[in-house]
Amino acid sequence: MATLGVNIDHIATLRQARGGVEPNPVHGAAIAEVAGAHGITAHLREDSRHINEHDVYMLKQVCATSFNLEMAATPEMVSIAVDVRPNMATIVPEKREEKTTEGGLLVRGREKDLSEIVEKLAENNIMVSLFIDPDFDQIKAAARTGATHVEIHTGYYANAKGREHKSELERLKDAVAFAHKVGLIVNAGHGLNYQNTAAVAAIENIAELNIGHSIISRAVFVGLENAVKDMLRVINTGSLV
Ligand code: PXP
Repeated sequence: MATLGVNIDHIATLRQARGGVEPNPVHGAAIAEVAGAHGITAHLREDSRHINEHDVYMLKQVCATSFNLEMAATPEMVSIAVDVRPNMATIVPEKREEKTTEGGLLVRGREKDLSEIVEKLAENNIMVSLFIDPDFDQIKAAARTGATHVEIHTGYYANAKGREHKSELERLKDAVAFAHKVGLIVNAGHGLNYQNTAAVAAIENIAELNIGHSIISRAVFVGLENAVKDMLRVINTGSLV
């Protein structure tokens, strides 16, 4: 069964709404871990719009499970990662004007640049995952960079309606199977919620699901501990009850 990585970015979004110190995403990470999360993810954006550099250093100190740092493939972010030493770095594309990460990383054609980043991070004992679309060419290119992991973008599935929902789920299944076959460890995430996660969690060979916005949204009403436990129940049993 897939494990759960809780993305805590939006605790920091709430903090930034007032520019103060609460709610503290580091406290959120500890609560999510107590509730059973298998890992914590945070995205240090270049504009630090939610998570900031200080959070990342604190998360590294506090996380008792596994800390996954999402970051752009830039020299500045690589040097922060090498200094912080998260357990994993997930490389994502980043556009300043986007509300959230929009598409997967375009790896094909950039294998040389990306493999240098993968090598630098791996030399520092940081596992590397590339966040990519459910696309065979991108998967093959990711394998060529030397990354051990990929995170398959589930956002197209999450946003699809009607018949497309089914075809996007099939596309995810094929992508996960193919990535596993070429030897990659496969994570998945983006746009997953309490309604659409069970079908993804049922796909064989997904190591970890990274889920943020829906867990933090639910936490506003039921508390973070309950929200994490509820998502674990969805992953493990297919429903909330
Ligand atoms: N995985 C990646 C690579 C992401 O960029 C994000 C969003 O930061 C997530 C997972 C979590 O997405 P959501 O907040 O929609 O659950």
